[in-house]
Amino acid sequence: MAEKPTTIDGKRLQSELLDWYDENKRDLPWRIDKDPYKIWVSEIMLQQTRVETVIPYYERFIRALPSVSDLAAVDDDALLKLWEGLGYYRRATNLKKAAAIIVGQYGGCMPQEPSHLVQLPGIGPYTAGAIASIAFGQRVPASDGNVFRILARLTACEESIDRQPVKNDLTASLEGWIPSDRPGDFNEALMDLGATICLPGGAPLCERCPWSADCLARIRGLEKQLPVRDTKKERRIEKKTVMLLVSKGRVALQKRPGGGLLEHLWEFPGADGWLAPSDFANLLEDLTISASSIAPLGAARHVFTHVEWHMKGYRVDVLSAKNPDRWTWVARDELLSTYPVPTAYRYYLDELLQEF
Ligand code: ADE
Repeated sequence: MAEKPTTIDGKRLQSELLDWYDENKRDLPWRIDKDPYKIWVSEIMLQQTRVETVIPYYERFIRALPSVSDLAAVDDDALLKLWEGLGYYRRATNLKKAAAIIVGQYGGCMPQEPSHLVQLPGIGPYTAGAIASIAFGQRVPASDGNVFRILARLTACEESIDRQPVKNDLTASLEGWIPSDRPGDFNEALMDLGATICLPGGAPLCERCPWSADCLARIRGLEKQLPVRDTKKERRIEKKTVMLLVSKGRVALQKRPGGGLLEHLWEFPGADGWLAPSDFANLLEDLTISASSIAPLGAARHVFTHVEWHMKGYRVDVLSAKNPDRWTWVARDELLSTYPVPTAYRYYLDELLQEF
C-alpha cells in the first residue's frame, strides 16, 4: 500500500485546485471582467453576506453607480437605500469615503498594492488581498474564515482558528502555495471550495474535494472535528418599543444618529424597554400626541452580531401632535423609494404597508 502523505506538496495543491476550479467555478457577475471597482464593491458586499444574497444587490449597485466617481458623488440616503436589507451599513458609508479618497488622491484609479488598499476605509487584509490578487494579479493571500477552515483541515491544525497567531501561521503556509501565474483564480477557487465542498459545521463533502488525498484532517479522520473555534460570547438582549405614528397617509421616521449601530439610517420612533400600557400612554403624553387609536402589532426580533433586539410594536393613528416637526412624515412611495429603513424593522414595515 502507498505511504500516506504527512507533508503537503504545494505544486500538486495548485494544479489540483485550479483544475477543479476550471471545471466547477461558480458563474458570478463580478467574475465577468476584472474591473477593480467592481471587484472591490463585490468584496465589500461579500464580507458578511452570502453570495446568493449579494448578487441582486451587486447588480443593482453597479447599474446605479457604475464608476468610483459616481460612488464618491452619491447622496447618503440614495447610497443607503441601495444597501437597504444587506446589513452592516458601515460598509456602504466606508465605500463612499474610500471612493472620495480614490478620486482625490489616486486620480480615480484603485491603488494596486495591498499596503495602500488597507489604508482605505473598510478594507482589511483579507479584502486587500482579494482585490490585489483578483483585479491586479498580485501573488498575495486572501484568507477569511472560510479559507482558515480549509487550511485548518488541510494541515490538521488543532488550535483555534480564532487566535491571531494561528491565523498568521496558516496564512504563511498559504503564501507558499499561491501560484504566480493565477493568484486571483487560486484565491477565488479557495472561496468556492469553502462555499461548496469544505463546508462548516462538521459537514465537509470530502468525496468531491480536489484536496481529499492531501488533506491531513481527512487522512487522520479529523475532518468533522476541525476547525477548532473559540466559544462565542452571548449576545446582549435589548428590549425596545416601536411606534408606527400614522397621520394623513404618512408615517413618522427619524434619522438614527452617527457613530452607533445603524448610523444615519431611518427608523420608527420608540423607546427603550417594553412599555406597560400606562407607560405607553405616558410616553404619548410626553410627546404631546393625541391618538384616535392605538393597536398592538406584536413582537419581532432582530439579531445583530453582538446584540439582539426584542421589539414590541404599536400602530398609533395620530389626531394631533404639538410638535410634529421632530419627525419626518413620509408617504408610502417615499418610504419605498427614498428612505433607507434597516431590516431590523422589516416586520413593522410590512405590517404598516398592508394598510397605509
Ligand atoms: N467571497 C468573498 N469573495 C468572493 C468571491 N470573489 N467570489 C465568491 N465568493 C466570495
